[in-house]
Amino acid sequence: MWWGSRLWGLLALLCGAAPAPAPPSAAPLLCNVSLDSPAEQRWLPVLRHFDPEFLRAAVARVIGERVPKWVHEVIRSVAVELEFLMPQPFAGEMLGLCRALGISLGDGVLLNFAYESTAFCTSIVAQDDKGNIYHGRNLDYDFVDILSKITIDVQFIKSGQVAYQGTTFLGYVGLWTGQSPHKFTVSGDEREGGGWWENAIAAFLNRNYPVSWLVRDTLSRAEDFQSAVLRLAGIPIIAEVYYIVGGVSPKEGMVITRNRKGPADLWPLDPLGGAWFRVETNYDHWTTPPPFDDRRTPAIKALNATGQHNINFDTLFKVFLLNSVCSTTISGELKTDKFVC
Ligand SMILES: *[C@@H]1O[C@H](CO)[C@@H](O)[C@H](O)[C@H]1NC(C)=O
Ligand SMILES: *[C@@H]1O[C@H](CO)[C@@H](O)[C@H](O)[C@H]1NC(C)=O
Repeated sequence: MWWGSRLWGLLALLCGAAPAPAPPSAAPLLCNVSLDSPAEQRWLPVLRHFDPEFLRAAVARVIGERVPKWVHEVIRSVAVELEFLMPQPFAGEMLGLCRALGISLGDGVLLNFAYESTAFCTSIVAQDDKGNIYHGRNLDYDFVDILSKITIDVQFIKSGQVAYQGTTFLGYVGLWTGQSPHKFTVSGDEREGGGWWENAIAAFLNRNYPVSWLVRDTLSRAEDFQSAVLRLAGIPIIAEVYYIVGGVSPKEGMVITRNRKGPADLWPLDPLGGAWFRVETNYDHWTTPPPFDDRRTPAIKALNATGQHNINFDTLFKVFLLNSVCSTTISGELKTDKFVC
């Protein structure tokens, strides 16, 4: 999947986990979601494109395989408060989706956590020698047989205009990948998994945002690259993450390394100093990635070989097609099988 215009844009790829299923190469369904409709109703037109039986089975499987049992207990114990615990529009949207599918709001929340906890990815932001900014990402996911069927490109519409857009999975109300037209692009990459569930649930009950909600919130509120960076760096979230941000003007590229409470590090493009790209996988940029999961070095080599003069959407896409960039870890284990983005 892929979208963007010449001066700004973001390319997003869904990578499959082995055993190599057919690559989800077809463009995902492009949907409009109206921000002018009540939150409870705005996803219903999208839902009509999908088989509810398939969706219910998918929800059950993803939750069953991904979410620890004690988390089910915790969420069940706060079930009646969930609606009021979560900020809008997320609470309303999830409520509307769950009602339409005939599942509990608790299961809707667990589904969103399941996706939130498993995103291994590579993001690249780069500036060509004319000052154009490019931003690409891939997403290495488990459950690719399900997710490739429910991956959607969503345009969020306000007063007849695209307010912002992103790529997501049906039922997941946050965004890991998005762009605010002519303003900025954002992608999120997971940072360390140890203690993820304990920390995330505690922070969630403390009303912190899931990391993908902050992406969406930023897309809806930030006016430009600078204000996007400020929001993404500063607002408390439920898990550590890397946010990669691209803008529309030269030098507008940034990797934000996040702690739950605030920024751990800001790593901007420095084109005048020769740093015309930044590559972020799932490790702090100031450390060396472990040899069993080094997707960074091959990406840097490929970008070096491409050169600033030749970088564009097509050549950036080719960097992501490298198997070594697409390799993935699943539940902490390296998958050695090759697969295609
Ligand atoms: C989505 O909304 C935009 C802006 O109003 C419109 O131009 C476009 O035709 C709509 N697309 C679909 C698939 O409804
Ligand atoms: C990429 O190029 C830079 C600048 O020439 C160099 O310092 C770096 O070692 C190269 N990295 C790789 C992995 O080739």
